[in-house]
Formats: sequence, structure tokens, C-alpha cells
Amino acid sequence: MNPDYQQRRQAVLAAIGQGTAIFGSAPTAVMHNDVDHPFRQNSDFFYLTGFNEPGAIAILAPHHGEHQFVLFVRPKDKEQETWSGYRAGVDLAKEKYGAHAVYPIEELAEKLPQYVENADRLYYHFGDDAPLDQRILSLWRLLLGKYPKRGRGPVAIEDSRLLMQQFRRVKSASELDQMRTAIAISAKAHNHAMAMARPGRYEYEIQAEMEHIFRLEGALGPAYPSIVASGVNACILHYIENERQMEPDDLLLIDAGCAYGYYNADITRTFPVGERFTPEQRILYELVLEAQLQAIEAVQPGRPFNHFHDAATRTITEGLVDLGLLQGDVATLIEDKKHKAFFMHGTGHFLGLDVHDAGTLRNPDKTWQPFAPGNVVTVEPGIYISPNYEPEEGQPVLDARWLGIGIRIEDDVLVTQTGHEILTAAVPKSLAAMEERG
Ligand code: GLY
Ligand code: MN
Ligand code: MN
Repeated sequence: MNPDYQQRRQAVLAAIGQGTAIFGSAPTAVMHNDVDHPFRQNSDFFYLTGFNEPGAIAILAPHHGEHQFVLFVRPKDKEQETWSGYRAGVDLAKEKYGAHAVYPIEELAEKLPQYVENADRLYYHFGDDAPLDQRILSLWRLLLGKYPKRGRGPVAIEDSRLLMQQFRRVKSASELDQMRTAIAISAKAHNHAMAMARPGRYEYEIQAEMEHIFRLEGALGPAYPSIVASGVNACILHYIENERQMEPDDLLLIDAGCAYGYYNADITRTFPVGERFTPEQRILYELVLEAQLQAIEAVQPGRPFNHFHDAATRTITEGLVDLGLLQGDVATLIEDKKHKAFFMHGTGHFLGLDVHDAGTLRNPDKTWQPFAPGNVVTVEPGIYISPNYEPEEGQPVLDARWLGIGIRIEDDVLVTQTGHEILTAAVPKSLAAMEERG
């Protein structure tokens, strides 16, 4: 087993002191009737255990002398395994996953109290598994009732997902290896998409070719529903129908990445379906690219997290004012959030086991946390001018040639000791490259 898992548990055990942390695996998810979606493990659970089955619970109890790491798992069951696949079972789970004790999940009610009753607090995330939520609440209430007499027991429940943010934010070497693989496969798919996109093709053809490459190269599949948005569809941030036939003057916005070993890539490129940008598309593309480069520059160790969004927002708002698409003083426009008519989302998010990955951004005093080496963040500013754009009061009516243009450029950037590394550099984004595809 990769030693990462044990190191991660050690770090969490040290952080929770006299507490007990309880992590549930993901439930299976129904697609329709009695057909399930492919199983996808809960990210916190996987991060700490590497155990990839449903019906399991992991417990970290640093104050328990012998059993600091405990797993409850589905027992071996020949008939069930014939239908729905292999189970490690109790013995192998113990051998392979390094737990000090492993029990069949059916023994949870009987065995759980001993790991909880002497903790000073619990860490658990409510909302993913209603029966487990109920079990933990009942046990907690019982122990609270006994507290006056026992003088010990958990007096609070903290959110385990929040607890995990500080750890998952910094990627280890093996995590980065998997992310680099996810990104390399996704880059190959983007480059292929750029070579094959042309007027007359359908958005779904591009999607199919990209997802073909994902699977062919050993990825699990798309990290999120692929967005292949041509023409006005690029103004819908989460457009996933991918049905339209592309036309010569369209831009094509592709936001697609694969999951490899549960680690995700998240890449967006926007380019003309025909041979050239229209003048308006070109101007806006250059502006988004400039904003993205400025934002990437702000991704540095020690720089507060908000700086890169501020850099992108400033560049875009200044550019829109220069073009006459927004009117007013730049600082005031930003303060009044007027730029959001065209740039309505954040500039990026942490990336890892989740596409929108764990990581606290702000401190209780409202200051922003700094980037640290090992963080991976997306940098993805955009400009979207709806075909139905209606200016707010005091803002100009736009000429029709500006309407229906949507552009986003998204890279995945690793914070290093001295600066950053653009992990997605294998996917071109210069204006010239966008016009000289394939
Ligand atoms: N593809 C999801 C995102 O960019 O956040
Ligand atoms: Mn994306
Ligand atoms: Mn993203």
C-alpha cells in the first residue's frame, strides 16, 4: 500500500488529539430503478484509506491505545460478489489497508461506542448517509446524557470535511504524479479536438473523440460532464447538451478533463471553428488571455488567494471599459460588481481528488489564506456576452457584433517553492495557435 495513506492518517491523528473522527464511504448511487452509477469513493475516505468499496466506515481514534485506525467493511459474500463485484472482506482489509482492527459493517452498533465514548469531541460530516447520521446522533445523545456522571465523553461534533481541507490542499508527490497523468491525457484530447473541429461537425462528435481518448489512455472517464459549446452556447457556463452543428464564424469553447485514479484535470480552451477569429472575437480573446496571464502571475507561494481573481477582474474590467462595453471608473465598476455582467464566476479553485477540491480560502478575520507549495489551482477567467444581453442602467447598449461571444481559458497551475508551474502547458492557447490548429 502506498505509504501516503499512513502518513495522512498520522497527520490527522495528531491534529485531532483526544477526538475521534468518523468517515463514511460513499453510498452507491442509483442511476434508475435497480441500476447504479459506477461507484465513486468519497474523497476524504479515499484520501485516508485507499479503500475503494462502498458500505465501509473508517475511524481515527488517537486516544484509543491499540486501535487508532479502525475499518468497518462489507464481509466476504460469494453470492453478492457474483452480482456486484469483489469485496476485500475483513481479513484482507486488515492485511492490506493497515487498520489496527477491522470488523464487518454489521457490527457497527456494537463496536462503535468503544471508539467514541472517551473522545472529547467527534469529527463527522453530516448529510451524506442518513442512517449513519442517525446512529452517530443517537450515540452522541446517549453519551451526553451520561456525561455528568462519567465526566468525559464527546461534547461537540465538528465537521470532518472542514477538518480535511488543510491536509488535502497540499498535494504529495504521488498525488501530483496522478494529476500530471490526468492532465497529459486531457491535453492529448484537447489537442485532438482542436485538430478535428471544423464547420459542419457536431459538438457531440468532439465530445465523443475526447472521451474516447480519456478511456483509451486509461482514465476513468470525464472528471465532470464535458462542455463542448459552440457559438452562443459558449455563453452558458454549464452547457452540457453538446448537440449543435458548428458554423464557420463560431467560437468553440471546450471545458473538459479526465479523472485518472480519482485525480482530476480541468482544462478549457476556446478557438474559432473556422480559420480565423472575427475582429470582436479576436479582441475579446486577447483580453481574456491577458487576464489569464496576469492571474497566473499572481499564483505564487505566500500570495493571498484572492490576488489572482483581483488581477483577472481588473484586467477584464479595464479592457471592457477601453472597448466601450462597460462605462465608468474601473475601481467603482468592480466595487459595484458591474463586471459580473460579463465575467460572473470566480477565477479558479483548488483541484485534486475533487474537481472543486478541498481547501479553506479565508481566515476567521476575513483575510485570505496564502497559496502554499503543493497547491494546485485552476486559473480560468472568461468573458461571456449573452445573445440576450441587456445593459444595466447607465451602461451602453452593445452593437450586435459583440453579442453571443463566450470565451474561457483554463489552466491547472501548481504552486512551487519559488513560483508556479503551468501543468497544462501542453495545450496551446496563443492567439496564433488558436488560428493555426491541426
Ligand atoms: N469544469 C468545471 C470548472 O471549470 O470549474
Ligand atoms: Mn473547467
Ligand atoms: Mn475549473
